[in-house]
Amino acid sequence: MKFAARITGTGSAFPKKRVTNNCIVKKLSELGIETSDEWIRERTGICERRISDAGNPNEHNSSLGFSAAQKAMEMAGKSPQSIDQIIYATCSPDMPLPSTACWLQHKIGADQAWAMDINAACSGFIYGLVIAEKFIQSEQVKTALVVGGEVLNPILDWEDRNSCILFGDAAGAAVVEQVPSDSSRRILNSYLRSDGNLKDLLFVPGGGSNMEITPERYEQKLNKLKMKGKEIFKVAVKTLTNVSLTALKKNQMAIDELDWFVPHQANLRIIEAVAKRLKLPMEKVLVNIDRYGNTSAATIPTMLDEANRDGRIKRGQTVLLNAFGAGLTCGSVLIRW
Ligand code: ACO
Repeated sequence: MKFAARITGTGSAFPKKRVTNNCIVKKLSELGIETSDEWIRERTGICERRISDAGNPNEHNSSLGFSAAQKAMEMAGKSPQSIDQIIYATCSPDMPLPSTACWLQHKIGADQAWAMDINAACSGFIYGLVIAEKFIQSEQVKTALVVGGEVLNPILDWEDRNSCILFGDAAGAAVVEQVPSDSSRRILNSYLRSDGNLKDLLFVPGGGSNMEITPERYEQKLNKLKMKGKEIFKVAVKTLTNVSLTALKKNQMAIDELDWFVPHQANLRIIEAVAKRLKLPMEKVLVNIDRYGNTSAATIPTMLDEANRDGRIKRGQTVLLNAFGAGLTCGSVLIRW
């Protein structure tokens, strides 16, 4: 292969509204549901999250994606016209049709690009990055824009204390460019998997072609997210450990050669359990779940952007991304930054 792919710019965007655990305690207590700041911090590591204002067009999913994409393109020195491909990873699109990717294309004015959404839930950004890499390697795309963006609030059930405490809204973006395959700074390896047998661990029953939302089904909250948290927890630890080791093995790399580990931010206890199994010290693990919660497809690009901009991730360092999500989907990407 003549070409490889390199991330040359990153960006992120969050809604304005900060929702602390205590805000949720207050909201749930009004519904007669008990929770506490202490419980949420101890069981998840989350202190606060950002929630989009549905009435503010600047906080729609593609608007957060637009803001993140602009920052990534500015860092990479790329104009909208130089983008060949837009991949938007989301499970909470602006609307069923057209794609959020096309909304973003319209907003940034990337007239030369083709755009598509992918839904791999929390693994979406990793799936998107690998798809962009493959198009770049096959010489059909020179510059791709990969976005992970979510506005999950509309599908959250604020009477389900198991799930509503976990999620937040955000978007993160990366510009991915073609480089010669012998470049040391590039995507080194990746590994993607899914297991459709685990589809019932996390799902939204209504709103698709299986089940139209009627007033009765709306009342039954069939348009809201259903989650088996405990089961996901166990599968996640095992899966994330395996996909991480596979990407390293494909590159004949040992765990202590890693500079940074960027895991999907679903629960701090999942992240710690995976790091322990990998024998990776927490100092090498990048975490932002305390401030943003689980932003699904946006956790990895927002974390990457933060550590890229504040100088923690340096040129030439080795970075391992991994994620799991509804489906169940999972994957890992190994990068020399
Ligand atoms: N506040 C207070 N108590 C609570 C809360 C809450 N918010 N939520 C649950 N509890 C209670 C339970 O009812 C239970 O009480 P009981 O013992 O009287 O029955 C007790 O706390 C313990 O519940 P567990 O389910 O055992 O709690 P656990 O430690 O497993 O934490 C959690 C629950 C946070 C959901 C955890 O299992 C988890 O994070 N799972 C992974 C979820 C996840 O990652 N989802 C996203 C997938 S990625 C994607 O694609 C979007």
